[in-house]
Amino acid sequence: MCGIIGFTGKLDAKEVLLEGLKTLEYRGYDSAGIAFVTDGGIKTIKRKGKVDNLYNTVKEESNDVTTCGIGHTRWATHGGVSDINSHPHTAGKVTLIHNGIIENYQELQAELETKGKKPISQTDTEIAAMVINDLYDGNPINTIKKADEVLHGAYGFCIMFEDFPGEIYCIRNGSPLVAGICDDGAVIASDVVALIKYTKDYFVLPEHQIAKLTPDKITVMDLDGNELCPEMLHVSWDIAAARKGGYDYFMLKEIHEQPEALRNTILPRVKNGMPDFTTDGISDDLFTDCNRIIIAGCGTAMHAGLVGKNMIEKLIRVPVSVEIASEFRYADPIVDEKTLLITISQSGETADTLAALRLAKEKGAKTLSIVNVKGSSIARESDYVLYTHAGPEIAVASTKAYTVQLACIYLTAFRMAIAKKCISDAEVKELVACLMKTIEDVEKILKYDKQIETIAHMLDKAEDLFFIGRGLDYALSCEGSIKLKEISYIHSEAYAAGELKHGTISLITDNVPCIALATQEHVYAKMISNVQEVRSRGAGVILITNAGVTVDAALCDHQIILPKMDDRFAPFGAAVVLQYIAYYAAVSRGLNVDQPRNLAKSVTVE
Ligand code: F6R
Repeated sequence: MCGIIGFTGKLDAKEVLLEGLKTLEYRGYDSAGIAFVTDGGIKTIKRKGKVDNLYNTVKEESNDVTTCGIGHTRWATHGGVSDINSHPHTAGKVTLIHNGIIENYQELQAELETKGKKPISQTDTEIAAMVINDLYDGNPINTIKKADEVLHGAYGFCIMFEDFPGEIYCIRNGSPLVAGICDDGAVIASDVVALIKYTKDYFVLPEHQIAKLTPDKITVMDLDGNELCPEMLHVSWDIAAARKGGYDYFMLKEIHEQPEALRNTILPRVKNGMPDFTTDGISDDLFTDCNRIIIAGCGTAMHAGLVGKNMIEKLIRVPVSVEIASEFRYADPIVDEKTLLITISQSGETADTLAALRLAKEKGAKTLSIVNVKGSSIARESDYVLYTHAGPEIAVASTKAYTVQLACIYLTAFRMAIAKKCISDAEVKELVACLMKTIEDVEKILKYDKQIETIAHMLDKAEDLFFIGRGLDYALSCEGSIKLKEISYIHSEAYAAGELKHGTISLITDNVPCIALATQEHVYAKMISNVQEVRSRGAGVILITNAGVTVDAALCDHQIILPKMDDRFAPFGAAVVLQYIAYYAAVSRGLNVDQPRNLAKSVTVE
């Protein structure tokens, strides 16, 4: 949440910052601002609204030549969306941008007010700037050290001190910051997508260490000023991966990238037809010992866990619970040394998932994370990591990250079954072959775009709808529902199809369509009965089935037929259909698919 960028070097800093903010806009788009060094001191321009709005304002209001500055795109937490609450914030000699929440800001504000110092905005960030300015003793490092003791909560700060033009000081706790250097200067950002234009080599700023950026160097220090050498990482994807590449929206591009993402995630982990985690450094010992598995995540990542639970339990008969990370951490969960916690997260920075991981570790669990962003907090703090290789996911609605999360969790289930000796080699090979076949099945489903675009018009007038399914199809319904809600703003609910008649069916009318998933043969007949129940109460129905089933034409308005897939792998195909439905429903309503209201990518606050 909140995009951050800082640059000092030889280039036009305003351009670097504005372009960086455009790239980072998916992290928050309530307002944006930049501050830069000029001959007359630090100048700040900030506006509510999108980065384009800021861009135009900067062009109108500033001819300044500058080579050093900081920029921010905001997802509001404390204080409404307004020019004044936008970042950067200045107090005295300090100008800063912040990603996170200062939890003790009210207490700090009260203290400042006893000294007659009053903020002009409603933000926790301005209080942080005031605190740092209050502590400022002419030495940025000493000052930041003292501030780090006083400020509580999550933060990633880029700070400019008026006395040190050309220098940017950064520190973080929780919120991500990555930095790199190139011939043209030093750059820091909340996300590697903003660095990639300048360098593919970067480091994650360790928590409670300070990065000092000067035009030709980045110095990383502990809080006592001792120089440190952080581990360098390399981005394997190209700048093109972070651009729309001719698609109308990132979401559509990312839906189309799924075959490649699946290929990159699955193939390096298959040796002689068997799942192999050698290059991930994961040995079977991790799985042999555990007698309880917990999967934790948020939103779509948690939904991937619901599908994964099914496969793991079927194969190894060990109980798996899937937990919403924000609930898990406060639920006094039963976790011990025999528990394996699997966290799933695209960004690897989701605050609640990270907290769930830390709690489980404290209680002695072994931890494995399935993460897309290299070097992210969840990846670094887990005992083991399986990276999904989806490349950058920019659209707020997660698509390719979900299907590769499924791939990783299926591979994990297969490897667990081998470790626990509950499967023959031939059976595993068959499962792996099915998993690899999902790549071509997804390729085929991508060609359904025109058909689904037409069908999605059925939702043009809908205000409420239901996704229904049984078993794996219910898990998929949860994912279909969140996707539709978040980008089309149509209210929907996912329901276990057999549960509707226990109350909820009273909501079904001819104005409430149902998207019914019936891909699972063992519950197919029951599912069709449930579809009939909603149909006979007037619901319009879009029915998604596996190939080879013929349904009575009166049962649904539209049938979407997957290519023939093994039932256990149908979620890979059905997910793409549901992504398309959400996408075209939102496009048809004229909405900004990539930047849905109130949302932001990478939820680094609780
Ligand atoms: C929905 C969506 C969110 C994320 C959730 C977790 O499309 O993108 O529900 O899945 O915020 O994010 P990560 O995976 O980064 O932990």
